[in-house]
Amino acid sequence: MSSTRPSPNTATISLPASGCNVNQAELPDNALILPPTHQLQALLTIIRDEKTQRGDFVFTSDRIIRLLVEEGLNHLPVVPKTVRTPVGMDFDGVSFQGRICGVSIMRAGEAMEAGLRDCCRSVRIGKILIQRDEETALPKLFYAKLPEDIAERYVLLLDPMLATGGSCIKAIEVLMSHGVREDRILFLNLIASPEGINNVCNLFPKLRMITAWVDEGLDGHRYIVPGLGDFGDRYFL
Ligand code: PRP
Ligand code: URA
Repeated sequence: MSSTRPSPNTATISLPASGCNVNQAELPDNALILPPTHQLQALLTIIRDEKTQRGDFVFTSDRIIRLLVEEGLNHLPVVPKTVRTPVGMDFDGVSFQGRICGVSIMRAGEAMEAGLRDCCRSVRIGKILIQRDEETALPKLFYAKLPEDIAERYVLLLDPMLATGGSCIKAIEVLMSHGVREDRILFLNLIASPEGINNVCNLFPKLRMITAWVDEGLDGHRYIVPGLGDFGDRYFL
């Protein structure tokens, strides 16, 4: 009996290898884009869709955040470590060197905390409350609560949206005023504008950032386009 159902292979469509607006080579050296796999493009398509409801938005954003955290951990330093396996053999591996903490830029950055905790159990997480002025888009710092020993830690700075870069720059200034070394900051981000990347990465050339996607630019309200709207509203409200 013949089946009318297409096999998975014949149903596969081909897309350009990179649908991303910007190539890795065009970015500052300290900015990295996740590989634009079909999976990542499909996940981003869901969260960008204005019809996506909050449950799917949260679930899908969390999956992208997990990809970012896993990639971020690849950029932390390791030292050699040898362990004895249950069959009596040695395995020459590595272990992470140095302690880390997360710092979320509230409110939207808080959405990335669970993804970090899923990978780094009981990780300390500091918070910096920065809000953009709705008229001017300039960032205003309200509050910072950070681990006391943050100056000795590698910091995973969390914010899903990088538009003008103003909020991220202010958060980095707060971290550095608490003694954090620029080269120990790893900024994890879902969607960035080219302006935001250039502003942050040129001002802080020793910091590293990882983003899932680089969009076209900003609109008149300094929102990322095509973007996904207000991440915090879509995730939390
Ligand atoms: C959003 C976003 C970033 C910032 C990006 O936060 O989460 O923090 O804007 O814009 P920028 O690069 O131009 O500074 P917002 O201030 O809207 O607050 P929210 O997290 O409460 O949504
Ligand atoms: N904050 C958001 O949530 N989205 C943008 O596009 C810009 C700032």
